[in-house]
Amino acid sequence: MAEFGGFPALGFLVLFSVFASCVVSRTHLITSGTEILDVDSAISKTRDVFSVNSDKVQALKQDVHERNGAVLSFTLHTRLSIRGGADNDYHSLTLARLGRDSVRVEAIQTRVDLASYGVRKADLMPMADSELAEEKLEGPVVSGTSQGSGEYFCRVGIGKPATQAYMVLDTGSDVNWVQCAPCADCYQQADPIFDPDLSSSFSSLNCETQQCKSLEVSECRNNTCLYEVSYGDGSYTVGDFATETITLGGSAAVNNVAIGCGHNNEGLFVAAAGLIGLGGGKLSFPSQINATSFSYCLVDRDSDSASTLDFNSPLPPDAVTAPLRRNSKLDTFYYIDLTGIKVSGELLPLPPTTFQLNANGSGGVILDSGTAVTRLPTAVYASLRDAFKKGTKDLRPAGGVALFDTCYDLRSKKSVEVPTVSFQFSNGKELGLPAKNYMIPVDSSGTFCLAFAPTASSPGIVGNVQQQGTRVSYDLANSLIGFSPSKC
Ligand SMILES: *[C@@H]1O[C@H](CO)[C@@H](O)[C@H](O)[C@H]1NC(C)=O
Ligand SMILES: *[C@@H]1O[C@H](CO)[C@@H](O)[C@H](O)[C@H]1NC(C)=O
Ligand SMILES: *[C@@H]1O[C@H](CO)[C@@H](O)[C@H](O)[C@H]1NC(C)=O
Repeated sequence: MAEFGGFPALGFLVLFSVFASCVVSRTHLITSGTEILDVDSAISKTRDVFSVNSDKVQALKQDVHERNGAVLSFTLHTRLSIRGGADNDYHSLTLARLGRDSVRVEAIQTRVDLASYGVRKADLMPMADSELAEEKLEGPVVSGTSQGSGEYFCRVGIGKPATQAYMVLDTGSDVNWVQCAPCADCYQQADPIFDPDLSSSFSSLNCETQQCKSLEVSECRNNTCLYEVSYGDGSYTVGDFATETITLGGSAAVNNVAIGCGHNNEGLFVAAAGLIGLGGGKLSFPSQINATSFSYCLVDRDSDSASTLDFNSPLPPDAVTAPLRRNSKLDTFYYIDLTGIKVSGELLPLPPTTFQLNANGSGGVILDSGTAVTRLPTAVYASLRDAFKKGTKDLRPAGGVALFDTCYDLRSKKSVEVPTVSFQFSNGKELGLPAKNYMIPVDSSGTFCLAFAPTASSPGIVGNVQQQGTRVSYDLANSLIGFSPSKC
C-alpha cells in the first residue's frame, strides 16, 4: 500500500553560489546614508564569468578544504565551476538565473501555502501512486536537461569504498539522494553512477523503519521502502530508500545516513550525482547527524572557486545574530525574525505585523540559500524602492529587466554612491548590506538593478544575492542565525 504522510513533497534545489578566495570587506557603516558601489569591478566580473577553464575545474575536483574548528567540512563549488558558462553572455545568464529563481520561489510558496491550509500531498497528487509504479521504473533512459536549478555543489564520498560525486546542496528540502545503478532513467552526470552492489555499507531500509515512515511520499514493495521526491520545477527522483556511509572532505565518515538510491530521476540537477538536503526536517543531513549547527559561505556567484559548508562549528564571535524561527506546520524551512528594513539609515514605515509568522503557518520570512533575489511583500517592496529611488536621483535610470523594475545605466561610472540598505531583527540587531549585494549588474555593459522583488504570496524570502560574501550560520541548538561578513 502506498503511504502518504505529511505535506506536499515539493522540494527545491539550492541556487547557491560559491568560491574560495574571499575578499575581506570593510566594516559597513550602517548608520550612514550611502554606500559606495564599485561599478568597474562589478562589470569586469561579468566578463570574467565566461573564462572558466576546464583545468581549473579538474583542480577543484581534487581540492579538499579543511577549516580549523569545524568537525565536518564540505568543499562548496559554484555551478559555473562544474558546468562552465554555457550561456554566452551575461545578460542571457542573468535571465536564465532569474527564470529558475521564479520557479523556485513559486514552489516554496505553494508548499508553505498548502501546509498552512492543511492540504496533504495525497489529496493533491493522485498520480503519485503511478509515479512509483513498476513500469515507470523500467522506462527508457533519457538525459537530463541542461538548465539546472542547483547553483552550489559539494564533493561527497558515498559508500565503502567511497565513490566521489558532486551533490547539489539545498536548504529548501530534506531528503538526500543519489542516482543509482541500475538506472531505469538517469540524467547525465559528471561522475560515474553510484552502484550499490559495489559498496559494502549499502543497506536497504524496510518499511517499518523510522526513516521510511518519515518520508512524505513512500511505498512499500516486498517489504523494502521506496521513496519519491518531486521538486517544484518538474524534477523528481524515485528509488530505494537505504542507509549508506557518507564521507566528507576526504576524512570524516558518517555511517548509516538515510539516502535515496534513485533509479528513476529526471530534472534540473546539472551534472550533479544527487542532492544533500539541508532543511530542518528529520531526514535532512544535519538532522541525521544531530548537527548543532551548520554554516556556509556564499561568495561571488560569478566565481569558479570554492568555499566550505561546515557542520558543528561555533558561531563566529563577530556574527550579527537574528532569532531563527520554525513553522509548526512545516519543518523544512528556516525562518528569520526580520522586523524592519532601513534605507539611507531610515526605517521604512511599515505595520508591526508586516513580517510576522502566523500560528497557521502563513506569513514570515524564510532564509534560503537557493533563492537568488530577496522577495518582499508587495507593499514593503514598494516602500523600499521609493526610498531607494529618492536616494538615487542623480543616477541615470534604465528600463526594467525581468522581475527588476528599478534599474540604472552606470556605463560611464567607475563607482557610485547608493543608499544604504539594512535589515533589522527582533533582537534589536541590524545587518547592513554591502552595495554589491543589492545593486547588481544584469549585463556587461553597465546596467545595474536594485535586486529585490515584490511578492503577493507569503512567505517572504531572503535570497542568496543578499547573502553573498557572508558566512551564514544556522545555530540549530540555540535557534540563532548568524551573519559574518568576513568569515569565508
Ligand atoms: C492565517 O492567519 C492569518 C493571520 O491571522 C490570516 O490573515 C490568514 O488568512 C490565515 N490563513 C489561513 C490559511 O488560515
Ligand atoms: C522479495 O524478497 C524475497 C526475499 O528477500 C526475494 O527472494 C524475492 O526475489 C523478492 N521479490 C521481488 C519481486 O523483488
Ligand atoms: C543522533 O541522535 C539519535 C537519537 O539520540 C541517535 O539514535 C543517533 O545515533 C545519532 N546519530 C549520530 C550520527 O550521532
